[in-house]
This record gives sequence, structure tokens and C-alpha cells, in this order.
Amino acid sequence: MNSLIGFYNAFYASDKNSFGGGKPTPLLEKLLIYVQSGIALDLGAGDGRNALYLAQKGFEVTAVDFSATAIEKIQRVAEHCHVSIHSVIADICDFEFVSEYDVIITTFTFHHLKKDEGFDMIRKMQLNTKAGGYNVITTFTQDGDFYRNDPDKRYFYPKHNELQEMYYGWEIIWYDEREVTALQKNQDGKEQFNTMAALIARKTS
Ligand SMILES: C[S@@+](CC[C@H](N)C(=O)[O-])C[C@H]1O[C@@H](n2cnc3c(N)ncnc32)[C@H](O)[C@@H]1O
Repeated sequence: MNSLIGFYNAFYASDKNSFGGGKPTPLLEKLLIYVQSGIALDLGAGDGRNALYLAQKGFEVTAVDFSATAIEKIQRVAEHCHVSIHSVIADICDFEFVSEYDVIITTFTFHHLKKDEGFDMIRKMQLNTKAGGYNVITTFTQDGDFYRNDPDKRYFYPKHNELQEMYYGWEIIWYDEREVTALQKNQDGKEQFNTMAALIARKTS
């Protein structure tokens, strides 16, 4: 098994572990001002904090993640909350988009993709979004410790402002970059800091 999948399976095996304390990204509250229903796709959904929130708000949600433990957890919680989520255990790079979506979201997953995979994924997301639909992304930029500590610089970390520039021609509903503390400490035990880019963009045509 790929060691990253093993890492995330172990992470999600504990009910105590969830990103963002299990709360949905604050971007979704902003998104819901603009769109209240439709078909949504969550790429690298983890244990489903965003997918579950959207399903509870009435969206028809597909959640994709290559951690089977994460997907099992999503299904357990969905059942508990009496909502339905379609889930797929797959590498998002191999995922075949089968429809056009009103909302495609991906949070804190892009830094696991190689550079070309990241650019491809954004192209696929854009192509498979309905006219008037939304993309919601959070990702770490090059202004942070994850990128600085990546010896080969093979992974997808957009430069300052690059994420929103990739959405040229879309309406930018929200964009900001801010410093966040990483869950994982450095090898010497020091905290790591990253800059997180957060985007909500609407496809205008
Ligand atoms: C930091 S977690 C974020 C999870 C979730 N989006 C959230 O914000 O809570 C990254 C997630 O991406 C998943 N992931 C990373 N690379 C992936 C890939 N190539 N295909 C599918 N899932 C992937 C991991 O299994 C993990 O659940």
C-alpha cells in the first residue's frame, strides 16, 4: 500500500482525529449565500467534514478519497445523521468525472499531488463544473514550511496569487492567503507554518 494511504488510514482510524476539528471549512458558509442545492463533488474528502455539511444542507454529494478508513467513517457518520453520500475509494487523479457539478470542493489535498497532477486536476474541475457552478479550494502555497522542506519541489504548491490567476475568466467570489499552523511539527519539534490560499470561484459561462 502507498505509504500516504497508510498514514491517512491510521489517522482516520481514531475518532479523535479530524481536520479542522471536524468542522466544515468556513468557505462553505460563504458559498451557501450563493448556492443552496445541487450536485457536489468533494475530492480528497477525508472523513467528510465538508461532504457531510453539504449533504445535510440538501446537496447530492459524492465524496472521493483513497483512504478506505476515511470513506468508511463518512458512511458511518452519514448513516448516523440520516443523510446519504455517494462515496468512492479512489485516487482522485484516476477519478472519472461522470457528470457536471454545481460545486466541486477540495480542501488541503493538493499538496499531495505532483505539480502536473495539480494543474491537471484544476483543469478537470473547471471543465466538469456547470456554467454558474462553483469551485471551492484550500491549498498550501509556496510561502510555507511544507514547500520549503520539500527537497525535490515535486508537489503542487501554487505561487502567491497563482491559484486565483488559474481562475481567470471566472468570477472570484472569495480569495485570500493567510498563515496557518500545521498539525505536524518539524523534525526538530518546532511548529511548521504554511500559507493557505482559499478560493471560491464561479464559472460564468
Ligand atoms: C489533509 S487531508 C484533508 C481531508 C479533507 N479534505 C478535509 O479538509 O478535512 C488530505 C486528504 O486527501 C486524501 N488524498 C491525498 N491524496 C489523494 C489522492 N491522490 N487521491 C485521493 N485522496 C487523496 C487523503 O487520504 C486525505 O484524506
